[in-house]
Amino acid sequence: MKLDSKAMRHLTAEDWRVLTAVEIGSKNHEVVPTPLIESISKLRGGAGRVRHSISALAKVGLIARLKEARYDGYRLTYGGLDYLALHTYASQKAVYSVGNQIGVGKESDILVVADAAGAQRILKIHRLGRISFRTVKANRDYLRRRQGGSWMYLSRLAAEREYAFMRALKEEGFLVPDPLSQSRHTILMSLVDAFPLRQIASVPDPAGLYAELIALILRLAKHGLIHGDFNEFNILLKEEPIDPDADAEEQKQPSRKGKEPPTNNVKVTPVLIDFPQMVSMDHANAEMYFDRDVACVKRFFERRFHFVSTQPGPFFRDAKKTVGRDGARRLDAAVEASGFSKKALKDLEAAIREQQEARGPEGEQDPASADSDYDEDEDEDDDDDDDDDDGQPVNQDDDGEDGRGESYDEHSEVNEGTNRDDLTTPNIGRLAIKDGT
Ligand SMILES: Nc1ncnc2c1ncn2[C@@H]1O[C@H](COP(=O)(O)OP(=O)(O)OP(=O)(O)O)[C@@H](O)[C@H]1O
Ligand SMILES: [Mg+2]
Repeated sequence: MKLDSKAMRHLTAEDWRVLTAVEIGSKNHEVVPTPLIESISKLRGGAGRVRHSISALAKVGLIARLKEARYDGYRLTYGGLDYLALHTYASQKAVYSVGNQIGVGKESDILVVADAAGAQRILKIHRLGRISFRTVKANRDYLRRRQGGSWMYLSRLAAEREYAFMRALKEEGFLVPDPLSQSRHTILMSLVDAFPLRQIASVPDPAGLYAELIALILRLAKHGLIHGDFNEFNILLKEEPIDPDADAEEQKQPSRKGKEPPTNNVKVTPVLIDFPQMVSMDHANAEMYFDRDVACVKRFFERRFHFVSTQPGPFFRDAKKTVGRDGARRLDAAVEASGFSKKALKDLEAAIREQQEARGPEGEQDPASADSDYDEDEDEDDDDDDDDDDGQPVNQDDDGEDGRGESYDEHSEVNEGTNRDDLTTPNIGRLAIKDGT
């Protein structure tokens, strides 16, 4: 689903209260009964006012009515959860406007947003389970047996975990985006002005970059971590001129465009992103994850840059010996200690693993085809062939009234970006950019 912030400005303070009430009620109810929404939201206008807001929220798809449920009730949609997160960022003054979507992955949407001063940031919205309901049958069976194992809950868990890793890595001096804030199934981070390695046709020094990436894998291992998805989509390459004066000279040459061969006056630095799936070096399958990350780098460098390292490895058993060496802080332990229950982590891990399996072999990911097997309708009704409560067809209750002129607290309003094409085009630098990726 796409985040459409247009309806936000039409929501009243009461509507936000009612939306929040549905969220609170969702903690214990798959479908939140209307009387419960009324009692949690405690609006001055009473039940009538609450119903008015319910209609308005259902009309714009932020909550969905379950018509054939045993009782009359509503469920928060992904859209509703998106709005609540944006509302939180807006009241923190962390987000003022929403710009373009720069990525639609299978597991997340990536949007460029801006704060009131116009500083660009990245909003990552986790959407676990978006593709799995038809393609991975085992997924739904697995989750059905687990209480509270809804996809919304897992997406929130993925965001919390990713944020915890990003903070820990940042504190330790790893090059990752700045973790700015986290709310529900989303995280807010700094925008890295760089291209994913996937889009780079050639680099000045493949051997040097390869060594740097392997060193990064080993540095993570020393801190007790394996990235678990260390591929060309999750490594952004920042370019900086080695000699700024020489660079200024070259910029004057009209022939130098992005697709030209790379200049030697460029230093590329990898910035790592995408952390919800990170695992500990003590994980039962750590060796497999470690080897897979290493193999991913090797395969990509061979295919893209025709570079094959003369050195074998690195090997897990050697990396394992370095964990915690020289006083390296165990980041796996630090994140584990930040309050994720074992059961929750098992659920998340299974969900991420199955998402990755659904995505196909590494390096073969094709965003276009990834999108085509995603059915927009599945967001709102992910259980269309089941017979329990949440499996009923969901219809929006659109008996709402119009003519709602009020506007809610302007401090937390999120604006639609103007045409912020500039937000989404990082500076084209000196590296040759590959066509069609
Ligand atoms: N902080 C950032 N700055 C700049 N670009 C970013 C940032 N975070 C993400 N992106 C862009 O969005 C893409 C997807 O982000 P990310 O890898 O975090 O999501 P994902 O869940 O892996 O999505 P997918 O399902 O496509 O793998 C990245 O490959 C990158 O191009
Ligand atoms: Mg990714």
